[in-house]
Amino acid sequence: MSISSTQAIPATSATPEHVAIIMDGNGRWASQRFMPRTAGHAKGVQSVRRAVETCGRMGVKYLTLFAFSSENWRRPAEEVTLLMRLFVQALEREVNRLKEQGVRLHVVGDLSAFEPRLQGLIQEAQAQTEYNDKLHLTIAANYGGRWDVLQATRKMLKANPAFALDPSLIDESALSDQLCMSWAPEPDLFIRTGGEQRISNFLIWQLAYTELYFTPCYWPDFDESELVKAFDWYAQRERRFGRTSAQVHAKK
Ligand code: FPP
Repeated sequence: MSISSTQAIPATSATPEHVAIIMDGNGRWASQRFMPRTAGHAKGVQSVRRAVETCGRMGVKYLTLFAFSSENWRRPAEEVTLLMRLFVQALEREVNRLKEQGVRLHVVGDLSAFEPRLQGLIQEAQAQTEYNDKLHLTIAANYGGRWDVLQATRKMLKANPAFALDPSLIDESALSDQLCMSWAPEPDLFIRTGGEQRISNFLIWQLAYTELYFTPCYWPDFDESELVKAFDWYAQRERRFGRTSAQVHAKK
């Protein structure tokens, strides 16, 4: 497991190492143009492509995108179907581009709910990019932060039956080692487009000390200049991790 922000003070730099994004506002972008909501999602795929390219160029090592939450099944059936189709298309069409760009793809979430063909494509796309290391692109699909903490707890107890008899043996890393992104550092910068200011059950454990950036820009309009704006905002933040400002400056 990478460094925990509550156990130690992680090294930081002006460019975030890990960026996590909630891509919101696709539906409203489309409605404003009298188009079906699904047209907004289709346009949103272009912003995903742009974000991957820009992050790669700017030296970001981990980009994590919330594509479909555990709660998104509550949407109208045709919208869910379209989102699944977009996901399949993106996996089929984009893998070569990802390979060329040195991007390693990961898909996290409860994938057992997806149809077998989609599960197969996910496995294949992950395998095809597994030797890449420039940028780790993680797509969270049928993902929920609470689901992640629960599945981690179950795995931890299964691996360590003694914990059930003596819970004082449990420490933070015993649990965080089982989270589905245990191989990645905690996000430095969280971005939510679309104007809402909430976390919506995304990476709830890992966002403990993440800088939170909210923008009214709808996801389909989120281009390179918007991402650079978020990075500039991030570069101005003083990351104290519980310390005082004076302590942070004394360290410099
Ligand atoms: C939120 O907008 C967006 C989603 C639930 C889906 C995001 C999916 C994509 C950008 C396309 C597929 C992704 C990949 C990785 C291929 P919303 O529908 O909640 O917008 P609204 O708040 O305006 O209604």
